[in-house]
Amino acid sequence: MLLSEAAARRVVFIGGKGGVGKTSLASALALAQARAGRRVLLVSTDPAHNLGHLWQCTVGPEPRALAPGLDALELDPDATAAAHLQQVGEALRRLMPAHLAGEVDKHLSLSQDAPGMHEAALLERIAELVHDAPARYDLLVFDTAPSGHTARLMALPEMLTAWTEGLLQRQERSERFGAALRSLGRDDGIGARALGGEAPAATPGDRDQAIRALLHRRRHRFEHLRSTLADPARTAFFIVLAAERLPVLETIQLHAQLARAGIAVAGLVVNKRAPRDAGPFLAGRHAQEAVHLDTLRAALPALALQEVPLLQQDVVGIEALDAFAGLLASTGGPV
Ligand SMILES: Nc1ncnc2c1ncn2[C@@H]1O[C@H](COP(=O)(O)OP(=O)(O)OP(=O)(O)O)[C@@H](O)[C@H]1O
Ligand SMILES: [Mg+2]
Repeated sequence: MLLSEAAARRVVFIGGKGGVGKTSLASALALAQARAGRRVLLVSTDPAHNLGHLWQCTVGPEPRALAPGLDALELDPDATAAAHLQQVGEALRRLMPAHLAGEVDKHLSLSQDAPGMHEAALLERIAELVHDAPARYDLLVFDTAPSGHTARLMALPEMLTAWTEGLLQRQERSERFGAALRSLGRDDGIGARALGGEAPAATPGDRDQAIRALLHRRRHRFEHLRSTLADPARTAFFIVLAAERLPVLETIQLHAQLARAGIAVAGLVVNKRAPRDAGPFLAGRHAQEAVHLDTLRAALPALALQEVPLLQQDVVGIEALDAFAGLLASTGGPV
């Protein structure tokens, strides 16, 4: 299910609680798709990165090759937020009168720790990747951070589009106001000369245009991300879970949260399923898991579900990932 569904999409998100196997499954899926001839970019949005551990190499913020046809990168929320703020700062300093540079710096240093800042910066990068990747890649696979964080992230494009929209409207109003003032011959460079005697960094007209272009570009990116996420023909979101009581309840909750954000779940992957035929202890475990899976199926009857067996060893290194991908291809429904 996972492989065949992903083969038909351009963007795949792998979400779920901590330790359920998201990174292993995202990596195996990305590798299988690269082996099938697609150009794949694997992206980790997890603050506690572990692509590097699994692939036994260092993965950073720029794409690096992991296998033929497969590149990967890790988005570090702190670094992403810092880079984002620096970009915003540069734009603001260019656009604002010089005497306001101190205000800009103060605002930015406060923003560094503002609630939602990391998520917004991360989303800005995700939007950029989703927008730019099609030129170089056929498939983007996102290995996301544990549930709550991901669901909030998925709801953000909606909020940020609305917010950017509001800024644009305000900006258009102030632009009209500025134009009216100028036509009355009373504009003096937003008081710059009166206040500090310096000339503004750009004329008010240029500045308005530049700010508008910036906001328009941002709105376009978020709209593109939102429409891509909401389009089941292009994007698939999979929830990975263990067949235990709490993970099942949390999966039902995450499914509802995503639905509220307009994102349909393409399927569930129940990982580390205990074997039925490896002694009485594991057979007992298998039966207990079946009870929890019944709850899951009853709550989400329409969703495709794939069970992936518990392995003896950890999934580490490319050979183990190829084998894991093989297992994904051969498993489907209940094991
Ligand atoms: N089917 C499986 N059988 C046995 N071990 C597995 C299986 N799938 C994954 N693992 C192991 O479980 C551990 C956690 O897997 P992984 O790192 O992929 O989870 P994760 O969901 O990405 O975790 P985190 O939320 O911390 O990022 C790893 O040691 C991995 O090798
Ligand atoms: Mg992980």
